[in-house]
Amino acid sequence: MTHVKTVLISGGAGFIGTRLARRLVGGHRVVLLDNLHPQVHKNGAWPTDSPAEAEQRFGDVTEADAWNSAIADYRPNIIVHLAAETGTGQSLTESHRHASVNVTGTARMLDALSHSGHRPEAIVLASSRAVYGEGQWKTVQGDLYYATSRGEQQLAEGKWEPIGPDGEEGQAVAHSAASVEPRPTNVYAATKLAQEHLLSSWCTSMNVPLRILRLQNVYGAGQALENSYTGVLTYFARQAMAGEPINVYEGGDIVRDFVHVDDVVSALSAALALPAEYGFGLVDIGSGSAGTLLEYATILAEVAGSPAPETSERFRLGDVRAAFADIAPARALLGYEPQVSFQDGVVGLLEWARQGAGVSGDPLHALVQSE
Ligand SMILES: NC(=O)c1ccc[n+]([C@@H]2O[C@H](COP(=O)([O-])OP(=O)(O)OC[C@H]3O[C@@H](n4cnc5c(N)ncnc54)[C@H](O)[C@@H]3O)[C@@H](O)[C@H]2O)c1
Repeated sequence: MTHVKTVLISGGAGFIGTRLARRLVGGHRVVLLDNLHPQVHKNGAWPTDSPAEAEQRFGDVTEADAWNSAIADYRPNIIVHLAAETGTGQSLTESHRHASVNVTGTARMLDALSHSGHRPEAIVLASSRAVYGEGQWKTVQGDLYYATSRGEQQLAEGKWEPIGPDGEEGQAVAHSAASVEPRPTNVYAATKLAQEHLLSSWCTSMNVPLRILRLQNVYGAGQALENSYTGVLTYFARQAMAGEPINVYEGGDIVRDFVHVDDVVSALSAALALPAEYGFGLVDIGSGSAGTLLEYATILAEVAGSPAPETSERFRLGDVRAAFADIAPARALLGYEPQVSFQDGVVGLLEWARQGAGVSGDPLHALVQSE
């Protein structure tokens, strides 16, 4: 088969990487670079649903040799950089590990490209909505402000909403890279922003087109349920499958934008196919709608046939109150149009989970640590 392009996906054995590889193998040579991180890959093996047509390359992105040899051997036309440490709560206690993989791992890639003289046609980065922190809000009068991080004392008093400059509660504004500044409030988020800065500095100097996609909460079949540090939805799924009422923090009204992995794969595929003349692109990727965690948990419980969710006054330090994306720029740049409804996505997630996805680990641990 004639391959149009060689696409190297770092973190290609992960949740998103595996699904992206499956989408691309029909028309591209696909190389997966991954160290099969034990927190994600409990059995230390490549995922069984990783496509056979893709070439699997074991390597750690923090090691120069892994990048040097991968770049020399494959001279990829496109690099999709997904390899990362992704534990939001965990990043506060394991900062060095997150900085090492996310920041040094990215810099290693750039050095390998510099030393080899190879210039890819484009680099695509999966960044995160986490870079916005609590994000931008507006007062009832419509004045915009940046919410400050909600401290432990505020949360312990059950005051969930960020307080505005006038002392009143405001209303969250959609994440939009063009108009909302990033203001990270956890180490994971800071490392994702550092990845953006490293790449945009290098790519501008080296004239390599860069596409950055800030993803909202991604979910779907294939997300490691056995990894205690992954998404809140996998934790909800585990509770529902155990026949327990889902416990929803902060009174249930945390706002999120859950985007299905198939839609994220469509966005990444469009980003890597974007013609070079588009240069730098930075967009937010979400589902196009937002809801409260209680609303999402209720749908999940209905689909699972588990008891109605319960809300609690519990909270996690470092969580933000509201996060959702303005996807108009992604529509314009990438022709992005989300296709999977939350209801359908949850049916798929639960089906997959019930087909024997390992449900191990300590759920309470996940409750404390994950998003
Ligand atoms: N899943 C989400 O909700 C979400 C949201 C926003 C952004 N993102 C970003 O998308 C990307 C992919 O996320 P995912 O959900 O597929 O995560 P994942 O944990 O399923 O996949 C990450 C992959 O990277 C690999 N990896 C980790 N450390 C590595 C290292 N040192 N060397 C080589 N490989 C390493 C892991 O083995 C894993 O296969 C990440 O960059 C993440 O920050 C994800």
